[in-house]
Amino acid sequence: MTERILITSALPYINGVKHLGNLAGSMLPADVYARAMRLLGHDVLYICATDEHGTPAELAAAEAGQSVSAYCDAMHSAQAEAGESFKLSYDYFGRSSSESTRRLTQNFALALEANGFIEERTSKQVYSVADGRYLPDRYVEGTCPNCAFEAARGDQCDNCGKLLDPVDLINPYSAVSGSHDVEIRDTNHLYLKQADMSGRLRDWVESHTSDWPVLTTSIAMKWLDEGLRDRSITRDLEWGIPVLNADGEVREGFEGKVFYVWFDAPIAYIGATQDWAVKTGGDWEKFWRTDKGADATRYVQFMGKDNVAFHTLSFPTTIMGSGQPWKLVDELKAFNWVTWYGGKFSTSGKRGVFMDQAIDIAPSDYWRWHLMANAPEGSDAAFTWEEFQASVNSDLANVLGNFVNRITKYCAGKFDGKVPEGGSKTDAEAWIEKELSERLPRLVEFYEAREFRKAMADTRAIWAAGNEYLTQAAPWTHYKTDIDQAAIGVRYGLNLVALFGILAQPIIPDTAEKILAAINIPSDKRSWKFGEVQDLLNALPIGHDISAPDVLFSKIEDDDVDTWTEHFGGQPT
Ligand code: MF3
Ligand code: ZN
Repeated sequence: MTERILITSALPYINGVKHLGNLAGSMLPADVYARAMRLLGHDVLYICATDEHGTPAELAAAEAGQSVSAYCDAMHSAQAEAGESFKLSYDYFGRSSSESTRRLTQNFALALEANGFIEERTSKQVYSVADGRYLPDRYVEGTCPNCAFEAARGDQCDNCGKLLDPVDLINPYSAVSGSHDVEIRDTNHLYLKQADMSGRLRDWVESHTSDWPVLTTSIAMKWLDEGLRDRSITRDLEWGIPVLNADGEVREGFEGKVFYVWFDAPIAYIGATQDWAVKTGGDWEKFWRTDKGADATRYVQFMGKDNVAFHTLSFPTTIMGSGQPWKLVDELKAFNWVTWYGGKFSTSGKRGVFMDQAIDIAPSDYWRWHLMANAPEGSDAAFTWEEFQASVNSDLANVLGNFVNRITKYCAGKFDGKVPEGGSKTDAEAWIEKELSERLPRLVEFYEAREFRKAMADTRAIWAAGNEYLTQAAPWTHYKTDIDQAAIGVRYGLNLVALFGILAQPIIPDTAEKILAAINIPSDKRSWKFGEVQDLLNALPIGHDISAPDVLFSKIEDDDVDTWTEHFGGQPT
């Protein structure tokens, strides 16, 4: 049955091209899933965007010597380009700074306030006279009141781990300028009353305990069990979405304030869908408005585990509290971390690989395969150059690449590059048919369940079964004595090549294209409507022209590994 599926991946923050860990924990799996669902015939919309507001954007722009908006323009393009180079098949890659997100955010805030879920409160905050601004918690530093560590951050002491309130720091100073000329001032902010939503949120999360991954529900339940706290959703900042009153004017006392980046960022999922609709003439409401058909849409989100609380508690509070018919997420796939040799990726520490660097090192398919085969699903997954090398050399080059090359070259050499006729089925054909009839439906189930490691393992096993089939059928041995018996081996082999190309599309789209072009499969014959395995293995017409593709994968040498290790830092500190 064809379904309508909305897919979003957590919006990458604007302050720089993302590293492989970000890619592997949201955008890439969302893309693989989107591609697989399209192949299964579903009506898919995959939306992503840059998350552009907040202090880090302001600071990164200042460091780059640009205005924030010019910086965001440039970084949005850079991230869009990085996404393209990794073949991320967004239907739309928007921006949280768009007009639509701005309007939606202001409307949500007004609706929430009208329904009693927003309240204005006064709090104490550190103001830096030298910087001419209030400092966000983590940009105030000073001496920890707990352990006397001298460079504690306002939100948390890195030495003793205690969560802090910046106004409690002894001898506070601005982490932006280093100035000690700071004072504590009263400031008003809007608070989202999440505590009042706890009951509804708990019911909703509990209703998903059987269909969401444990990682997702356990994080949500932990917050609920600890008791939700009301959160301020505005900040003393210039860059962001202004806080308006119902007349569309700046709310009194909120000059120089904007919404907190985490309030508007998830709203940008909706805004970007509206922008997609403007660009394409599509209908955004059937994805988002339950009064306009969105109940029939399945909404699937992808994100790293640090994002789960925002997507299971705060954003749903925004949606539910608005009292308007907005769509809630149906399925939420969260990932653990990809680590760099067990440690953290670090831009400043020069540890880790960023998307733009990665693409200069190896083709996107190599990364896509490796990162998906090692998706951080059950636990964190360490990236190492050695394992990257092993994924490429053994899985891609030896198992898939060799198979495709062996049989296509043989057909080109001995059968004039045409699918040959003749031969009768033996145990070898029966074996591969049985193997596929068990594995294919399971593979589709793994994709539907977003069990990526299992899907990749099954894919690899199917490639390996192809090699095993060729070993059993041994057309090269039969060729000398019984050309018909060689023909069936070649024919089945070629049909397997076509199938492998079709199966590879969501994971390694460029290689899949090369395989399918070589084996001459028109684009309307590449979908995942598998039918009977028998037919699948006899799908290519007799006499159909094929060619041998160029070498699909080049192996990674030990020297490459040494070079990269030296350049990118191979060890955690
Ligand atoms: N920018 C956030 C991050 O990088 C993710 C935002 S997801 C959204 O962690 F919900 F805000 F869209
Ligand atoms: Zn401390």
